[in-house]
Amino acid sequence: MRDFLSVNDFSKEELLEILELASELDTCENEKLLDEKIVSTLFFEPSTRTRLSFESAAYRLGAKILGFGSPDSTSLKKGESLRDTIKMIEGYSDVMVMRHFIEGAARFASEISSIPVINAGDGANEHPSQTLLDLYTIKKRFGDIAGKKIAFVGDLKYGRTVHSLSKALANFKCKLYFIAPDIIQIPDNIKEFLKRESIDFSLHSDYSEILEDIDVLYMTRIQRERFEDSAEYEKVKRVYQINQKEIVGKVKENMIILHPLPRVDEIDIDLDETKHALYFEQAKNGIPVRKAIYLLALGVKQFKNEKISKYLVSENNKIFCKNTRCVTHFEKTKNKFYEIDGNKSCYYCGKEIE
Ligand code: CP
Repeated sequence: MRDFLSVNDFSKEELLEILELASELDTCENEKLLDEKIVSTLFFEPSTRTRLSFESAAYRLGAKILGFGSPDSTSLKKGESLRDTIKMIEGYSDVMVMRHFIEGAARFASEISSIPVINAGDGANEHPSQTLLDLYTIKKRFGDIAGKKIAFVGDLKYGRTVHSLSKALANFKCKLYFIAPDIIQIPDNIKEFLKRESIDFSLHSDYSEILEDIDVLYMTRIQRERFEDSAEYEKVKRVYQINQKEIVGKVKENMIILHPLPRVDEIDIDLDETKHALYFEQAKNGIPVRKAIYLLALGVKQFKNEKISKYLVSENNKIFCKNTRCVTHFEKTKNKFYEIDGNKSCYYCGKEIE
Protein backbone atom coordinates (compact mmCIF):
# COMPACT_ATOMS: atom_id res chain seq x y z
CA MET A 1 0.00 0.00 0.00
CA ARG A 2 1.31 3.44 -0.84
CA ASP A 3 0.08 7.02 -0.45
CA PHE A 4 0.38 9.46 -3.38
CA LEU A 5 0.86 12.81 -1.63
CA SER A 6 3.81 14.60 -3.23
CA VAL A 7 6.08 13.99 -6.21
CA ASN A 8 8.99 14.24 -3.76
CA ASP A 9 7.91 10.94 -2.24
CA PHE A 10 8.89 9.11 -5.44
CA SER A 11 12.31 8.41 -6.90
CA LYS A 12 13.04 8.82 -10.60
CA GLU A 13 12.91 5.02 -10.97
CA GLU A 14 9.50 4.91 -9.30
CA LEU A 15 8.15 7.73 -11.48
CA LEU A 16 9.29 5.83 -14.57
CA GLU A 17 7.72 2.63 -13.27
CA ILE A 18 4.37 4.42 -12.84
CA LEU A 19 4.59 5.73 -16.41
CA GLU A 20 5.49 2.26 -17.71
CA LEU A 21 2.53 0.69 -15.92
CA ALA A 22 0.25 3.44 -17.27
CA SER A 23 1.51 2.72 -20.76
CA GLU A 24 0.69 -1.00 -20.38
CA LEU A 25 -2.79 -0.13 -19.09
CA ASP A 26 -3.29 2.31 -21.98
CA THR A 27 -2.99 -0.42 -24.57
CA CYS A 28 -4.59 -3.45 -22.91
CA GLU A 29 -8.21 -4.47 -22.30
CA ASN A 30 -9.74 -3.25 -19.05
CA GLU A 31 -9.11 -6.03 -16.57
CA LYS A 32 -11.27 -5.91 -13.45
CA LEU A 33 -8.27 -5.70 -11.16
CA LEU A 34 -10.16 -3.68 -8.53
CA ASP A 35 -13.24 -5.91 -8.34
CA GLU A 36 -14.78 -5.70 -4.84
CA LYS A 37 -12.76 -2.56 -4.00
CA ILE A 38 -14.45 0.71 -3.02
CA VAL A 39 -12.87 4.03 -3.97
CA SER A 40 -13.94 7.23 -2.21
CA THR A 41 -13.58 10.53 -4.03
CA LEU A 42 -13.66 13.46 -1.61
CA PHE A 43 -13.68 16.79 -3.41
CA PHE A 44 -13.70 19.79 -1.10
CA GLU A 45 -12.87 21.99 -4.13
CA PRO A 46 -14.41 22.04 -7.65
CA SER A 47 -13.05 19.66 -10.29
CA THR A 48 -14.03 18.30 -13.69
CA ARG A 49 -11.05 16.31 -14.99
CA THR A 50 -9.45 15.01 -11.83
CA ARG A 51 -12.58 13.72 -10.15
CA LEU A 52 -14.19 12.31 -13.29
CA SER A 53 -11.01 10.67 -14.59
CA PHE A 54 -10.30 9.12 -11.17
CA GLU A 55 -13.88 7.85 -11.15
CA SER A 56 -13.74 6.63 -14.74
CA ALA A 57 -10.42 4.83 -14.08
CA ALA A 58 -11.95 3.16 -11.01
CA TYR A 59 -15.05 2.02 -12.92
CA ARG A 60 -12.91 0.66 -15.74
CA LEU A 61 -10.96 -1.41 -13.21
CA GLY A 62 -14.18 -2.79 -11.72
CA ALA A 63 -14.23 -0.77 -8.47
CA LYS A 64 -17.27 0.84 -6.88
CA ILE A 65 -17.28 4.53 -6.02
CA LEU A 66 -18.68 6.71 -3.28
CA GLY A 67 -17.95 10.32 -2.42
CA PHE A 68 -18.88 13.93 -3.03
CA GLY A 69 -18.03 16.72 -5.43
CA SER A 70 -18.61 19.53 -2.96
CA PRO A 71 -18.38 19.73 0.84
CA ASP A 72 -21.78 21.49 0.94
CA SER A 73 -23.63 18.17 1.18
CA THR A 74 -21.44 16.76 3.97
CA SER A 75 -21.40 17.11 7.76
CA LEU A 76 -18.51 19.55 7.45
CA LYS A 77 -21.35 22.08 7.07
CA LYS A 78 -22.37 21.12 10.63
CA GLY A 79 -18.86 21.80 11.90
CA GLU A 80 -17.29 18.34 11.67
CA SER A 81 -13.49 18.41 11.44
CA LEU A 82 -11.42 17.07 8.56
CA ARG A 83 -9.87 14.63 11.04
CA ASP A 84 -13.25 13.07 11.89
CA THR A 85 -14.37 13.04 8.26
CA ILE A 86 -11.25 11.08 7.28
CA LYS A 87 -11.78 8.67 10.19
CA MET A 88 -15.25 7.88 8.82
CA ILE A 89 -14.16 7.45 5.22
CA GLU A 90 -11.45 4.91 6.07
CA GLY A 91 -14.19 2.59 7.32
CA TYR A 92 -16.25 2.99 4.16
CA SER A 93 -13.68 2.48 1.40
CA ASP A 94 -10.34 0.91 0.45
CA VAL A 95 -8.60 3.99 -0.97
CA MET A 96 -9.42 7.69 -0.84
CA VAL A 97 -8.83 10.36 -3.47
CA MET A 98 -8.96 13.78 -1.84
CA ARG A 99 -8.87 17.35 -3.14
CA HIS A 100 -8.81 20.05 -0.49
CA PHE A 101 -8.25 23.82 -0.40
CA ILE A 102 -5.87 23.56 2.59
CA GLU A 103 -2.16 22.99 1.89
CA GLY A 104 -0.87 19.79 3.46
CA ALA A 105 -4.42 18.43 3.94
CA ALA A 106 -3.62 15.21 2.06
CA ARG A 107 -0.54 14.45 4.14
CA PHE A 108 -2.52 15.18 7.28
CA ALA A 109 -5.24 12.77 6.07
CA SER A 110 -2.62 10.09 5.44
CA GLU A 111 -1.52 10.28 9.10
CA ILE A 112 -5.06 9.63 10.28
CA SER A 113 -6.10 7.11 7.65
CA SER A 114 -5.20 3.42 7.58
CA ILE A 115 -6.14 3.23 3.87
CA PRO A 116 -4.03 4.86 1.12
CA VAL A 117 -4.61 8.54 0.40
CA ILE A 118 -4.20 9.99 -3.09
CA ASN A 119 -3.70 13.75 -3.21
CA ALA A 120 -5.90 15.19 -5.97
CA GLY A 121 -4.67 18.73 -5.20
CA ASP A 122 -4.10 20.45 -1.85
CA GLY A 123 -4.61 24.19 -2.17
CA ALA A 124 -1.72 25.86 -3.98
CA ASN A 125 0.69 23.16 -2.85
CA GLU A 126 0.81 20.01 -5.01
CA HIS A 127 -1.11 17.98 -7.60
CA PRO A 128 0.97 14.82 -8.03
CA SER A 129 -1.42 12.78 -10.20
CA GLN A 130 -1.59 15.70 -12.65
CA THR A 131 2.22 15.67 -12.76
CA LEU A 132 2.25 11.98 -13.57
CA LEU A 133 -0.10 12.49 -16.51
CA ASP A 134 1.94 15.51 -17.64
CA LEU A 135 5.12 13.39 -17.58
CA TYR A 136 3.27 10.58 -19.33
CA THR A 137 2.17 12.97 -22.09
CA ILE A 138 5.70 14.34 -22.59
CA LYS A 139 7.23 10.86 -22.66
CA LYS A 140 4.56 9.51 -25.01
CA ARG A 141 5.17 12.36 -27.47
CA PHE A 142 8.98 12.61 -27.33
CA GLY A 143 9.94 9.10 -26.17
CA ASP A 144 12.02 10.64 -23.39
CA ILE A 145 11.78 13.42 -20.80
CA ALA A 146 15.50 13.94 -20.12
CA GLY A 147 16.94 17.31 -21.03
CA LYS A 148 13.71 18.78 -22.43
CA LYS A 149 13.30 22.58 -22.34
CA ILE A 150 10.05 23.41 -20.61
CA ALA A 151 8.45 26.85 -20.16
CA PHE A 152 5.80 27.42 -17.50
CA VAL A 153 3.57 30.44 -18.17
CA GLY A 154 0.94 32.14 -16.01
CA ASP A 155 0.08 31.72 -12.36
CA LEU A 156 3.24 30.13 -11.01
CA LYS A 157 2.74 31.29 -7.44
CA TYR A 158 -0.53 29.46 -6.81
CA GLY A 159 -0.25 26.86 -9.59
CA ARG A 160 0.07 23.53 -7.79
CA THR A 161 0.48 21.68 -11.10
CA VAL A 162 3.55 23.81 -11.82
CA HIS A 163 5.00 23.21 -8.35
CA SER A 164 4.66 19.44 -8.61
CA LEU A 165 5.78 19.16 -12.24
CA SER A 166 8.85 21.38 -11.86
CA LYS A 167 10.01 19.29 -8.87
CA ALA A 168 9.42 16.05 -10.78
CA LEU A 169 11.28 17.37 -13.84
CA ALA A 170 14.34 17.91 -11.65
CA ASN A 171 14.78 14.12 -11.84
CA PHE A 172 15.23 14.41 -15.59
CA LYS A 173 17.62 17.38 -15.63
CA CYS A 174 15.28 19.49 -17.76
CA LYS A 175 15.90 23.18 -18.41
CA LEU A 176 13.02 25.18 -16.90
CA TYR A 177 11.78 28.68 -17.77
CA PHE A 178 9.32 30.41 -15.44
CA ILE A 179 7.34 33.17 -17.16
CA ALA A 180 5.11 35.27 -14.92
CA PRO A 181 4.66 38.80 -13.54
CA ASP A 182 6.64 39.29 -10.31
CA ILE A 183 3.60 39.02 -8.03
CA ILE A 184 2.78 35.50 -9.25
CA GLN A 185 6.29 34.19 -9.98
CA ILE A 186 7.44 30.74 -8.88
CA PRO A 187 7.70 30.54 -5.04
CA ASP A 188 11.01 30.60 -3.19
CA ASN A 189 10.63 27.05 -1.86
CA ILE A 190 10.53 25.70 -5.44
CA LYS A 191 13.52 27.84 -6.47
CA GLU A 192 15.49 26.60 -3.45
CA PHE A 193 14.59 23.01 -4.28
CA LEU A 194 15.75 23.41 -7.89
CA LYS A 195 19.01 25.04 -6.77
CA ARG A 196 19.71 22.16 -4.41
CA GLU A 197 19.12 19.73 -7.28
CA SER A 198 21.44 21.82 -9.56
CA ILE A 199 18.66 22.40 -12.11
CA ASP A 200 19.15 25.04 -14.78
CA PHE A 201 16.22 27.47 -14.57
CA SER A 202 15.51 31.12 -15.36
CA LEU A 203 12.77 33.68 -14.62
CA HIS A 204 11.14 35.87 -17.31
CA SER A 205 8.21 38.21 -17.71
CA ASP A 206 7.81 37.72 -21.49
CA TYR A 207 7.65 34.34 -23.26
CA SER A 208 8.57 35.69 -26.71
CA GLU A 209 12.29 35.67 -25.79
CA ILE A 210 12.35 31.89 -25.21
CA LEU A 211 9.69 30.64 -27.61
CA GLU A 212 12.00 29.28 -30.32
CA ASP A 213 14.11 27.28 -27.83
CA ILE A 214 11.48 25.27 -26.01
CA ASP A 215 10.04 21.75 -26.40
CA VAL A 216 7.04 22.25 -24.11
CA LEU A 217 4.94 25.36 -23.44
CA TYR A 218 3.01 24.67 -20.21
CA MET A 219 0.25 27.27 -19.96
CA THR A 220 -1.75 27.85 -16.78
CA ARG A 221 -4.84 29.79 -15.75
CA ILE A 222 -4.54 32.83 -13.49
CA GLN A 223 -6.49 31.44 -10.53
CA ARG A 224 -8.79 34.18 -9.33
CA GLU A 225 -9.97 32.04 -6.38
CA ARG A 226 -6.49 31.88 -4.79
CA PHE A 227 -5.87 35.65 -4.59
CA GLU A 228 -6.38 37.22 -1.17
CA ASP A 229 -6.47 40.72 -2.73
CA SER A 230 -8.76 41.02 -5.79
CA ALA A 231 -6.85 44.17 -6.88
CA GLU A 232 -3.76 41.99 -7.37
CA TYR A 233 -5.80 39.62 -9.55
CA GLU A 234 -7.07 42.53 -11.65
CA LYS A 235 -3.45 43.56 -12.37
CA VAL A 236 -2.51 40.21 -13.92
CA LYS A 237 -5.74 38.56 -15.05
CA ARG A 238 -5.20 38.67 -18.84
CA VAL A 239 -1.44 38.94 -18.85
CA TYR A 240 -0.72 36.01 -21.20
CA GLN A 241 -3.03 35.07 -24.05
CA ILE A 242 -1.61 32.96 -26.83
CA ASN A 243 -3.12 32.35 -30.27
CA GLN A 244 -2.11 30.88 -33.63
CA LYS A 245 -0.55 34.13 -34.86
CA GLU A 246 1.74 34.34 -31.86
CA ILE A 247 2.82 30.69 -31.88
CA VAL A 248 2.67 28.96 -35.26
CA GLY A 249 5.89 29.44 -37.26
CA LYS A 250 7.73 30.87 -34.25
CA VAL A 251 8.34 27.61 -32.41
CA LYS A 252 10.02 24.26 -33.11
CA GLU A 253 7.99 22.05 -35.46
CA ASN A 254 7.42 19.48 -32.70
CA MET A 255 6.89 21.91 -29.80
CA ILE A 256 3.84 20.94 -27.75
CA ILE A 257 1.46 23.10 -25.72
CA LEU A 258 0.21 21.57 -22.48
CA HIS A 259 -2.30 22.98 -19.99
CA PRO A 260 -3.70 21.20 -16.92
CA LEU A 261 -7.07 22.85 -17.77
CA PRO A 262 -9.54 24.41 -17.19
CA ARG A 263 -8.52 27.32 -19.42
CA VAL A 264 -10.19 30.70 -19.37
CA ASP A 265 -8.63 33.00 -21.97
CA GLU A 266 -4.93 32.09 -21.96
CA ILE A 267 -5.13 29.78 -25.04
CA ASP A 268 -7.26 30.90 -27.97
CA ILE A 269 -9.41 28.11 -29.44
CA ASP A 270 -7.77 28.81 -32.82
CA LEU A 271 -4.77 26.85 -31.49
CA ASP A 272 -6.84 23.74 -30.73
CA GLU A 273 -6.59 22.29 -34.24
CA THR A 274 -2.85 22.92 -34.62
CA LYS A 275 -0.24 20.16 -34.24
CA HIS A 276 1.12 21.93 -31.16
CA ALA A 277 -2.05 21.59 -29.07
CA LEU A 278 -1.85 18.52 -26.83
CA TYR A 279 -3.94 19.63 -23.84
CA PHE A 280 -7.01 17.53 -24.60
CA GLU A 281 -4.92 14.42 -25.19
CA GLN A 282 -3.08 15.28 -21.95
CA ALA A 283 -6.40 15.27 -20.05
CA LYS A 284 -7.36 11.89 -21.58
CA ASN A 285 -4.05 10.46 -20.40
CA GLY A 286 -5.46 10.89 -16.90
CA ILE A 287 -7.26 7.54 -17.29
CA PRO A 288 -4.30 5.13 -17.72
CA VAL A 289 -2.18 7.13 -15.28
CA ARG A 290 -4.84 7.12 -12.57
CA LYS A 291 -5.47 3.42 -13.14
CA ALA A 292 -1.75 2.84 -12.48
CA ILE A 293 -1.93 4.99 -9.33
CA TYR A 294 -4.81 2.91 -7.91
CA LEU A 295 -3.06 -0.38 -8.59
CA LEU A 296 0.16 0.77 -6.89
CA ALA A 297 -1.63 2.51 -4.01
CA LEU A 298 -3.60 -0.64 -3.23
CA GLY A 299 -0.68 -3.01 -3.72
CA VAL A 300 -2.34 -4.83 -6.63
CA LYS A 301 0.89 -4.00 -8.50
CA GLN A 302 4.21 -3.47 -6.76
CA PHE A 303 7.14 -1.16 -7.41
CA LYS A 304 10.22 -3.10 -8.45
CA ASN A 305 12.53 -0.47 -6.94
CA GLU A 306 10.68 0.85 -3.89
CA LYS A 307 12.25 4.04 -2.60
CA ILE A 308 13.42 4.53 0.95
CA SER A 309 12.58 8.12 2.00
CA LYS A 310 15.63 10.37 1.82
CA TYR A 311 14.15 12.86 4.29
CA LEU A 312 14.39 12.39 8.04
CA VAL A 313 11.19 13.55 9.71
CA SER A 314 11.25 14.76 13.33
CA GLU A 315 9.03 16.54 15.82
CA ASN A 316 9.79 19.75 17.67
CA ASN A 317 7.18 21.57 19.72
CA LYS A 318 9.09 24.87 19.46
CA ILE A 319 8.92 25.04 15.66
CA PHE A 320 5.79 26.21 13.82
CA CYS A 321 4.91 26.51 10.14
CA LYS A 322 4.35 30.16 9.19
CA ASN A 323 2.34 29.35 6.06
CA THR A 324 -1.14 30.47 7.11
CA ARG A 325 -2.68 28.26 4.37
CA CYS A 326 -1.07 25.14 5.90
CA VAL A 327 -3.16 22.46 7.60
CA THR A 328 -1.21 23.06 10.83
CA HIS A 329 -3.26 26.28 11.21
CA PHE A 330 -6.61 24.53 10.73
CA GLU A 331 -6.39 21.14 12.43
CA LYS A 332 -4.70 19.76 15.51
CA THR A 333 -1.47 18.37 14.03
CA LYS A 334 1.93 17.34 15.30
CA ASN A 335 4.81 19.82 14.96
CA LYS A 336 6.65 17.83 12.35
CA PHE A 337 9.35 18.97 9.98
CA TYR A 338 12.09 17.57 7.80
CA GLU A 339 15.57 18.93 7.29
CA ILE A 340 17.69 19.16 4.13
CA ASP A 341 21.14 20.82 4.14
CA GLY A 342 20.33 22.48 7.48
CA ASN A 343 17.02 23.94 6.21
CA LYS A 344 13.85 22.86 7.98
CA SER A 345 10.59 22.49 6.08
CA CYS A 346 7.07 21.82 7.26
CA TYR A 347 6.27 18.11 7.00
CA TYR A 348 2.73 18.85 5.80
CA CYS A 349 2.95 21.72 3.29
CA GLY A 350 6.68 21.53 2.47
CA LYS A 351 7.30 25.27 2.99
CA GLU A 352 10.63 26.20 4.54
CA ILE A 353 10.56 27.23 8.20
CA GLU A 354 12.74 30.32 8.65
N1 CP B 1 -6.35 19.63 -14.11
C1 CP B 1 -7.27 19.68 -13.13
O1 CP B 1 -6.95 19.52 -11.94
O2 CP B 1 -8.53 19.92 -13.57
P1 CP B 1 -9.82 19.93 -12.64
O3 CP B 1 -9.67 21.08 -11.67
O4 CP B 1 -10.99 20.09 -13.55
O5 CP B 1 -9.85 18.63 -11.88
